[in-house]
Amino acid sequence: MHLPPSPRTPGAIQLLRWIFTPMSYMDECASAYGDIYGLNIRPDYPSVLTSNPNALQTILTSDTKELSSPGELNGIFIPISGTQSLITASGKQHQRKRQLVMPALHGERMRAYANIINQVTDEVISTLQIGVSFSIRNVTQTITLKIIMQAVFGLYNSPRAIELERVLSYILESTSSPLSLAAGVFPILGKVLGKLNPARDFETLLQQADKIIYEEIQERRNNPDSERVDILSLLMSARDEDGQGMTNVELRDELMTLLTAGHETTATALAWAVYFIYKDETIKTKLLNELNSLGKNPDSNTIFKLPYLTAVCNETLRIYPVALTTFPRQVEKPISLCGYDLEPGTLVYGSIYDTHRRQDLYPNPEQFKPERFLERQYSAYEFLPFGGGARRCIGLAFAQFEMKLVLARILTSVQLELVTKTKVNAKRRGLVSAPDRPIYMSRLN
Ligand code: HEM
Repeated sequence: MHLPPSPRTPGAIQLLRWIFTPMSYMDECASAYGDIYGLNIRPDYPSVLTSNPNALQTILTSDTKELSSPGELNGIFIPISGTQSLITASGKQHQRKRQLVMPALHGERMRAYANIINQVTDEVISTLQIGVSFSIRNVTQTITLKIIMQAVFGLYNSPRAIELERVLSYILESTSSPLSLAAGVFPILGKVLGKLNPARDFETLLQQADKIIYEEIQERRNNPDSERVDILSLLMSARDEDGQGMTNVELRDELMTLLTAGHETTATALAWAVYFIYKDETIKTKLLNELNSLGKNPDSNTIFKLPYLTAVCNETLRIYPVALTTFPRQVEKPISLCGYDLEPGTLVYGSIYDTHRRQDLYPNPEQFKPERFLERQYSAYEFLPFGGGARRCIGLAFAQFEMKLVLARILTSVQLELVTKTKVNAKRRGLVSAPDRPIYMSRLN
């Protein structure tokens, strides 16, 4: 049996490095072992990471006889998403749940979100005071949270929405440190940390969020309104083949998944985009020229299709992909990847971070260079910030639309300046990545 190479360090050390310094560890492993390597990134299964586009195509194409993408492997999301959301569902159930949610995040619906995206961005920008520095990630997180709340509930600025926004921010903050992830992987560590565990108030916060969500669901059941077009209304009117609607618990789990997966990720991507745009005058000027060429009040679809804005967003998601890997795919029948043998039970992760740093695809990968995306067409297995196949990010279209409209609004309505002049790197933030310290900006007009 010819297994993929892997570090010789003890498994526990590998796991700790994966939790605390994932990017530098992946850089080291990719340069030592190349396209595929074994790494002890979870204690329950042998795991392999690959950044080879052909191997990525094999593992991500879809659920096949050789590889599956069982939801049980995403158990780490259960504390927030519960057991009945699409993220932890498998096979037919998974497909069914995706089909229910998908229409709310695609096509015609996107146009309806344009107004709210612009409105929220304007409102949040208006709170920034001239000459007072602010952390851009805090600002983008406020924007994306308000937007996803509106898309999910259609409750703009109602007392219930404001309270839920507050509780959700605390929940996500409490799970953002690598320590809380470590405590999740090693429950004993959570006990040892006791009051120092950043996620210690998690249960109480979660109960508060659940109470608000269940109240809202009940109110809708009592007063159905067929005119409503938000995601909750859509899910409440959905019926499966037997004519059954979703239960309250199913609804709660799906909403919580969308609310959390749907704003932290986009907030980080937006913060990086603003950082790179304002760091380089040439990039900012090019973008402004492109946006200004559209005249006053351009249509959201026209903004969405702008080539340079698209290249800037893609380069942002390439250089610091918010998700470092895809969800795991599991080997069902013995297969060979990149000339190595993988046994049933092994987990294979698409290494998004390693793929986006490949010299052969992205020469000088440390450099932020949007032009790459204008000069070359990348395949879905060379550039994959949203993963691919059966579990490809369901919010892909929504996130890209939101990123472009928010950036366009910021660039054309205020003048900002980067206050943080030194280089900012990425670090782990809970299950994803984020800037390693606050990026400060200041408003000039
Ligand atoms: C820049 C923003 C985002 C990034 C980089 C991102 C990235 C990802 C990645 C890499 C996956 C795993 C895909 C795979 O294993 O193949 C994923 C799954 C998922 N994402 Fe996103 N995401 C973003 C925004 C969103 C938004 C806005 C939503 C919802 C509105 C969302 C909801 C989900 C859900 C529900 C899944 C699980 C899909 C499944 O299990 O079938 N994401 N995302």
